[in-house]
Amino acid sequence: MKTKKRISSYPPEWLHLVDTLIPSYVKETYSPKPAWRLKPFSEVDTSFFSQSILALSALFTEDRPHKVPAYFQHARYRSAYMLYFLPLSAAKFLNLFRLHEAALASLLPLKHITILDLGSGPATASLTLLIFLARLDHKPELTIHLVDTNAHIMRDGEALLNRFAEHLGIKLTVHRHASTFWEAPLPEKIDFTILGNLLNEADAPRAKQAPFWQDLYKRSQHAGILFVEPAARSSSQKLGSLRDSFLETHIKSDNPATIWGPCLHAGKCPLATGRDWCHFSFPSHIDGKLFKKFSQKLGSERTWVKYSYLWLASPHTPALKINNPDIRLVVSDRLTDDQSVLICEPKTARKIIHATARRGTVISLKGVIE
Ligand SMILES: C[S@@+](CC[C@H](N)C(=O)[O-])C[C@H]1O[C@@H](n2cnc3c(N)ncnc32)[C@H](O)[C@@H]1O
Repeated sequence: MKTKKRISSYPPEWLHLVDTLIPSYVKETYSPKPAWRLKPFSEVDTSFFSQSILALSALFTEDRPHKVPAYFQHARYRSAYMLYFLPLSAAKFLNLFRLHEAALASLLPLKHITILDLGSGPATASLTLLIFLARLDHKPELTIHLVDTNAHIMRDGEALLNRFAEHLGIKLTVHRHASTFWEAPLPEKIDFTILGNLLNEADAPRAKQAPFWQDLYKRSQHAGILFVEPAARSSSQKLGSLRDSFLETHIKSDNPATIWGPCLHAGKCPLATGRDWCHFSFPSHIDGKLFKKFSQKLGSERTWVKYSYLWLASPHTPALKINNPDIRLVVSDRLTDDQSVLICEPKTARKIIHATARRGTVISLKGVIE
């Protein structure tokens, strides 16, 4: 992708988003006292909002995956999400956009880009995409469709997007659709669809699933469809099963070029059921003064970015794949002292011995002891 600068760490646009734009918007919109609203974000604010961050963090970890209450109905949880969980989730999108720059490169020739952000929350995925697009030599015009069952958080998302786009000099139109994702009106053609941390909260009813995915896939152009989910076994295996049914029912091809990642093959996912599951973790800190302060209040510095994901290519823009039958994706950490790891193959995850392999790396089987 032709960018002004390759993103090697967190770019200045990121810092503007997480340390200036979000805190000022949250303070302006969610301070309990009107007199506080236009004052800079202070230590008192950090203490005030960290109460809700702590409560939301407990709710996420304690209640999931059995019961996910409608947390965005409450103003305190919307503000908590934007200040802390939005950067946490955005770091995952940023990581994936960097890993699969080739998928995003298909957006490059477009003068106008249509994005669909399903389960958008405060537009986390779209905001992160703006960081990427802002670094292009020519800035395309954007239309972003936000879909979420919660109208309040989408309104926040729209406000953040408009402010960020103005700051970046990007021309943007936002449409909000308060709806379940499977009932939302889909644009005729979609250049990129993102579903961020949605499926672990929401399942379409069985009868609606196939027609919805079929329709979404048919309308997908250019950068295809990206699903990002938590790294937990249940969400990862749900994604693995969805991948298999996509390949069987809608894609109907065993060509690896139908998937940008993480899979190198389009055979059956070996980790969609069973003890192990497909997820990735990268050592990384999350940049931002405020994020650091909230992490300290939570008593947990984030040192890893973790997620499960699936990036489907659109039916018109195949993924670029290395044509080498000897390469495999490593899908486990080191298993024992014998330096063995699991590698992904259709239907099975095979154990091999490899001195340098680690989760998420691509290795060659040439010279490997089995
Ligand atoms: C964990 S948040 C993720 C927000 C954002 N995508 C991110 O990654 O930060 C999940 C979002 O999905 C929304 N949601 C839950 N069930 C939904 C459904 N059936 N259809 C559409 N959105 C839904 C919630 O309201 C919430 O905004």
